Amino acid sequence: MIEIRGLSKSYGDYPALKNVSLSIRPGEFVVILGPSGAGKSTLLRCINRLNEPSAGEVVVDGTPFSSNRRDLRLLRRSVAMIFQQHNLVKRLSVLKNVLVGRMADLSPLLTSLQLFPEADVKIALHCLEQVALAHKARSRADALSGGEQQRVGIARALAQQPKIMLADEPVASLDPKTSRTVLGYLKSSSKESNIAVLCNLHQIDYALEFGERIVGLSGGELVYDGPPSGVSRDVVRRIYPGLDDPNVLDAAQRLHERRGRGTAEPVIQRAEGGA
Ligand SMILES: Nc1ncnc2c1ncn2[C@@H]1O[C@H](COP(=O)(O)OP(=O)(O)OP(=O)(O)O)[C@@H](O)[C@H]1O
Ligand SMILES: [Mg+2]
Repeated sequence: MIEIRGLSKSYGDYPALKNVSLSIRPGEFVVILGPSGAGKSTLLRCINRLNEPSAGEVVVDGTPFSSNRRDLRLLRRSVAMIFQQHNLVKRLSVLKNVLVGRMADLSPLLTSLQLFPEADVKIALHCLEQVALAHKARSRADALSGGEQQRVGIARALAQQPKIMLADEPVASLDPKTSRTVLGYLKSSSKESNIAVLCNLHQIDYALEFGERIVGLSGGELVYDGPPSGVSRDVVRRIYPGLDDPNVLDAAQRLHERRGRGTAEPVIQRAEGGA
């Protein structure tokens, strides 16, 4: 269980995050929605302490983490990050990029020589299987499409065997079809490994389709925490004050209708070269 207790962050005297608390179960897929500047990235960065929170704490399986070095190291093992731009090492193979996720558990000497124990190679290959890219293990990372590179980013996070994966707009630079494929793999692999996911998205349609739980942030405050089915027009207006686009306001209603017709389940493409 990941507990975020009363997290606040001010930049100077600007309060970007105000007293946010959440409990996230293992394997739960939580999507954070909110307008630009709502504090979504700040929340993720305070959880893995890329930003030092002004107040509050993160507790993983009952253990609170302080900002001393040892706690930070342990926290960063429990929390994996998936970036918008993948942050892969382009000239290395896909497999070696995934093995980077194992580095916290390996000897620095062996990793500097790029020598990886067989057991870790097995873990990395399994993580690549979870995103249907085992057949690309020996390819150079920069030979892959954007969607495939993001799936390698997911595999690298899985290889860390964290308690939670934080994804900050992981599909922001991908086309709609590829975005759905990538989100499908993020969800299926996190379920298989029982790892919680906290994912920032700008696309309300994807949020409602893939999220099991929606967290709405507005002006640094938590304004909604509940199932996608509860994202009514009022909730959308609370998250996005001033928004009056009926396409967005009625997104939950549309999804509900499509699900009624059996056409809105996330599609995961297992075919090679999918995304
Ligand atoms: N390092 C910083 N110094 C000062 N202000 C910052 C810093 N980082 C973020 N902010 C401010 O804090 C607020 C929240 O920023 P944050 O990046 O968390 O928003 P966001 O919800 O992720 O937005 P977006 O959807 O555009 O990525 C914004 O007003 C931003 O300008
Ligand atoms: Mg952001």
